[in-house]
Amino acid sequence: MKAIVNADTCTGCGICVDICPEVFQFVGNVAQAILDPVPNLLEEATSQAADSCPVEAIKIS
Ligand code: F3S
Repeated sequence: MKAIVNADTCTGCGICVDICPEVFQFVGNVAQAILDPVPNLLEEATSQAADSCPVEAIKIS
């Protein structure tokens, strides 16, 4: 699994960082996925973070 945060869309609400800090961290005002690929163990939390983003800035592939 791969997670990408669209920096143009992210409003910096921080929900993804709260849900899965192992994968998402703030870089400046926006979140960034810091693990590529996402480890199997963190796939569920990563998907949950993507689903929870209010502006749908996280793309999972
Ligand atoms: Fe940004 Fe969405 Fe995370 S707005 S901080 S990518 S939950």
